[in-house]
Amino acid sequence: MADAEIGVIGGSGFYSFLDDVTEITVDTPYGSPSDSLFLGEVAGRQVAFLPRHGRGHHLPPHRINYRANLWALRSVGVRQVLGPCAVGGLRPEYGPGTLLVPDQVVDRTKTRAQTYFDGVPLPDGSIPRVFHLPFADPYCPAARTAALAAARGRNWDAVDGGTLVVIEGPRFSSRAESRWHAGQGWSVVGMTGHPEAALARELGLCYASLTLVTDLDAGAETGDGVSHHDVLEVFGKNVGRLREVLFDAVGALPATGERTCGCAQVHDGWELGIELP
Ligand code: ADE
Repeated sequence: MADAEIGVIGGSGFYSFLDDVTEITVDTPYGSPSDSLFLGEVAGRQVAFLPRHGRGHHLPPHRINYRANLWALRSVGVRQVLGPCAVGGLRPEYGPGTLLVPDQVVDRTKTRAQTYFDGVPLPDGSIPRVFHLPFADPYCPAARTAALAAARGRNWDAVDGGTLVVIEGPRFSSRAESRWHAGQGWSVVGMTGHPEAALARELGLCYASLTLVTDLDAGAETGDGVSHHDVLEVFGKNVGRLREVLFDAVGALPATGERTCGCAQVHDGWELGIELP
């Protein structure tokens, strides 16, 4: 039996999720994930929690081994992943405390390994084939629905949809960059939402991002610049209710064998040349 079926990747200020856990270390062909996996039960479902930045927050966004993180989760049986993360709001109406479940993502990262199919031999000598991921709709519709319903059930009027732009970091945006992001019509800005969704899709995992606005970014009309201290403070204030929402969302996700969203079929008809765990 799998150790877990649902994964939660905790963001800034979110280093523990479950009360009663079994800690396991997992290695992957891509190196080590950010930390141990913490296995436990929520709403009768087996969950694996992974602190994205490592416990104690020692990994900046561009140093996170996203490939190892998703691979490790899949290797213990995870097939659906919820990815909470802290973001800046790009519109005045998306102030601190807003929960937004994006339906689109824009990648402005620069240095991150963002595919398992990059033509480089794996440690076992096998070479993955070239694969161009379908990514028009980056997030799993069922996981998004579960997250939104869970938020509303907890009286948190989450925003349904919007575009998350992911910057390389670790610095925040300049005012000009931020104004440009806002001017594009994008909704929120973060540093970790990419390449998580793309890698999850490559592994046939369902993935939804739950973005918690911790600040108004510098280009939002009333935004006044951001500090890491503010981000952690606002995240800390909201982490309790975000945890409740995640618990309810976990309980509302379909059973692994009953997914109808199509995320698992992304490789249909493909000879991958890569052995998924
Ligand atoms: N994470 C939290 N707030 C952010 C911001 N304003 N820009 C980028 N990442 C963030």
